[in-house]
Order: sequence, then structure tokens, then C-alpha cells
Amino acid sequence: MNLIFLGAPGAGKGTQARLLQEREGIPQVSTGDMLRAAMADGSELGLRAKGYVERGELVPDDVMVAVIEARLARPDARHGFVLDGFPRTLPQAEALDVMLERAGRKLDAVLYFDLSDETILRRLTGRWVCRQAGHIYHLEFNPPRQRGRCDVDGSELSQRADDRPETVQRRLEVYHRETEPVVEFYRRRGVFSTVDAEGGIEDVHRRVLATIRTRMELRA
Ligand code: AP5
Repeated sequence: MNLIFLGAPGAGKGTQARLLQEREGIPQVSTGDMLRAAMADGSELGLRAKGYVERGELVPDDVMVAVIEARLARPDARHGFVLDGFPRTLPQAEALDVMLERAGRKLDAVLYFDLSDETILRRLTGRWVCRQAGHIYHLEFNPPRQRGRCDVDGSELSQRADDRPETVQRRLEVYHRETEPVVEFYRRRGVFSTVDAEGGIEDVHRRVLATIRTRMELRA
């Protein structure tokens, strides 16, 4: 299954993509996680991306397209993927079309996570992530068992540098300007579905599974 998760920062794309990977075995391809890992390693990609990510701006399209092209060619993604954080601009969406066509692959579903601005802000300001593997928590909605420690690997939890209020504001502006046109780009296609992203993590997960099932039935 080849899937795209779209939605504003904090809409729950990463949380749901990770659940789908754990429970259904579909690899999560998160450009945000890939960039944060590259920044932590101090690699060439990380050094190039750092300033953009910390300011809440987008990394240039040519860099992101090359990152995704290399990632989708890896063996684990040959039978399916959940794109989480890509495409984020129209040129990225167009480049993905070319990439998939060249590889003889098709998108099965594009899920748009619909959430109010008020909930988005609450989710982002309470988010904590683990340093080792990026497992996602929320102080109020999804707290770890032990304060400040990841349930899965025991590593320390920290707040993302781009979750500071002024940077969140910038990311939301960038989302409205650059990524909402991408939502419209896919809305016109048969694969598009809106998922109500309000409510608890398990409720949203059930809606995600039901939406994917419906899309697969329509395709059959
Ligand atoms: P990225 O990491 O992709 O950030 P984002 O799109 O802003 O998305 P988030 O990770 O903030 O939110 P999410 O929707 O995954 O929500 P989450 O599940 O964590 O990108 C970061 C930066 O990298 C960008 O700003 C840009 O600079 C760069 N970048 C990345 N991709 C790029 C690209 N393609 N082109 C150019 N630049 C790119 O949930 C949020 C919180 O809510 C968590 O605390 C979670 O526990 C909680 N939560 C989730 N679901 C629920 C629920 N149902 N109920 C209650 N709480 C919930």
C-alpha cells in the first residue's frame, strides 16, 4: 500500500504513521524524522537542513526530492510506504508523481488529517519526543509512564526546538501558504479522503484503518 498522510503541524500524522508501521507493517517515511536524525549526526544533509528546520521554514525542494527518491528505493519501501511530511509543496507533489510513474507505482490513498487550530496548538505545545528514536508523547494526552523517560527505550524525552510558540506560528503560516495547495492538488484525485483527527489516538487510528479499507475496496 502506498499512502500519503497530509495535514497541519501537530495534526497527528507522525503518531498515526508510527502506529500503522507497528501494527500493519507499512514503513513510515517521515521527512521530519529523517532531517532530525541527519541534524543529530551532523551529516551534510543535517548541516544544510538545520537553519530551515529551526526557523520553521521548508528545506529546499531539490534536497527533499532527492532524500525521498533515495528512501523509496530502499528494499523495505518497495512494497509500500506511508509518507509523513512529504510532499509539502506543489513542486514536491509533481516530483513524486514523476518518481512513482517511473517506478510503475501508484498512490493507493491520500489521507488528510482535519483538526481545528485550537487543538493543533494544544497538541504541539505539550509534545515531548524521545532522543533515541523519536517516540512521541504528550504531557496531557499521551504521557509516558515515567516522567521524562521513553516507555519504549528508556531514553530521555525532550521538546523539539521547533515547538517553541514563535516557531509554531511560523510553521503554521508556511503550512497555509505552501502545503494547503498540495491538499487541493490531491483533493481532485480519486484517492483523497478526509479523516476527522479530533479525539483520542485509538479513535483516530480506527478511522484511519476504516478509510484505508474503503479506499482499497473502491480500488478493487
Ligand atoms: P515534521 O517533523 O514533518 O513536522 P510537521 O509536519 O510540522 O508535523 P509534526 O511532526 O509537528 O506533527 P504531526 O502531525 O506528526 O503530529 P504528532 O503525531 O507529532 O517537519 C519538521 C520540519 O522539517 C519542517 O518544519 C521543515 O523545516 C522540515 N521538513 C520536513 N519535511 C519537509 C519537506 N517535505 N519539505 C521541506 N521541509 C521539510 O502529534 C503532535 C502531538 O499531539 C504529540 O504530542 C502527540 O502525542 C499528540 N497527539 C497525536 N494524536 C493525538 C490524538 N489523537 N489525541 C491527543 N493527542 C494526540
